[in-house]
Amino acid sequence: MEEELLSYEEAIKRAGDAIHRFPLIDVQGVPLMSTIADNWKSIWEFCPDSSDILISTYPKAGTTWTQEIVDLLLHNGDAEVCKRAPTAVRIPFLEICAPPPIPSGLDLLRQMKPPRVIKTHLPIQLVPKGFWENKCKVIYMARNAKDNLVSYFHFDRMNLTQPEPGPWDGYIYKFMKGQLGWGSWYDHVKGYWKECKEKNILYMLYEDMKENPLREIKRIMHYLDLSVSEDVIERIVHLTSFQVMKDNPMANYSSIPKPVFDQSISAFMRKGEVGDWVNHFTPAQSKMFDENYANQMKDADIPFRFSIH
Ligand code: A3P
Repeated sequence: MEEELLSYEEAIKRAGDAIHRFPLIDVQGVPLMSTIADNWKSIWEFCPDSSDILISTYPKAGTTWTQEIVDLLLHNGDAEVCKRAPTAVRIPFLEICAPPPIPSGLDLLRQMKPPRVIKTHLPIQLVPKGFWENKCKVIYMARNAKDNLVSYFHFDRMNLTQPEPGPWDGYIYKFMKGQLGWGSWYDHVKGYWKECKEKNILYMLYEDMKENPLREIKRIMHYLDLSVSEDVIERIVHLTSFQVMKDNPMANYSSIPKPVFDQSISAFMRKGEVGDWVNHFTPAQSKMFDENYANQMKDADIPFRFSIH
């Protein structure tokens, strides 16, 4: 475990100046980090095993939370086993590529034997076909647009491999226009929603998780055909609560060094709340956003909630 942490830090040290804020390049109309666009062919050709599990999200929708829950469910709630390595090593990020010698998601996956749990932010049309052909289990976690946007804004401030977020006001427009990394939030959540029945995708909502984690963790358990006792589920609820994960060095991204994630700017585990958007949007920004939202979401009836109380 120590070795993995050190080697990752060492890899980042060696990558040195090659780490910077990478521009976004369109891949089939979706803006992706240039490192991903440059390696797109090998990502697209990745073929999973039918036993692999995919966790897919738009960035900042609760990916890390879902990863921790799935890992704990697969290991019957064993907290120590789930501290065997940082999240990014336990559950590789399919498309992520960084300058060598930092291992890419594909490098990490090649070293692991199925069944593997894999993370992606790719919109549904860019998910490698093998996931559907092999009928892999796919869990999609979505979060209401306003909180998702706020979280992404703070993340782009501290993630020094993503484009500068610029001022808050302009960032709202970039989000609405789908100009951020991994493209349009609207297309992303709708793309998975429209296909979730046909492709047997488990579609989850961050707000439901906050409201009743026990119920939602059970949904994941049933979907994965696992059987875990009530006691263990309750333990998983505790182990995946915001504060416990924030204090867990194997889940809070503290293993990613400052040249990549500068957590002195904003913590990866920032607030973990529903409704923090009210502290960011002015009434005028909120009104403008809502009008645009109604238009962009008129062809989907996803039951998003912007508050839960
Ligand atoms: P905030 O920035 O609103 O705090 P991702 O893992 O997709 O990058 O998403 C990160 C967001 O999920 C952050 O949101 C983070 O705080 C929140 N998060 C992470 N773990 C959580 C947990 N256990 N409970 C609730 N929210 C969590």
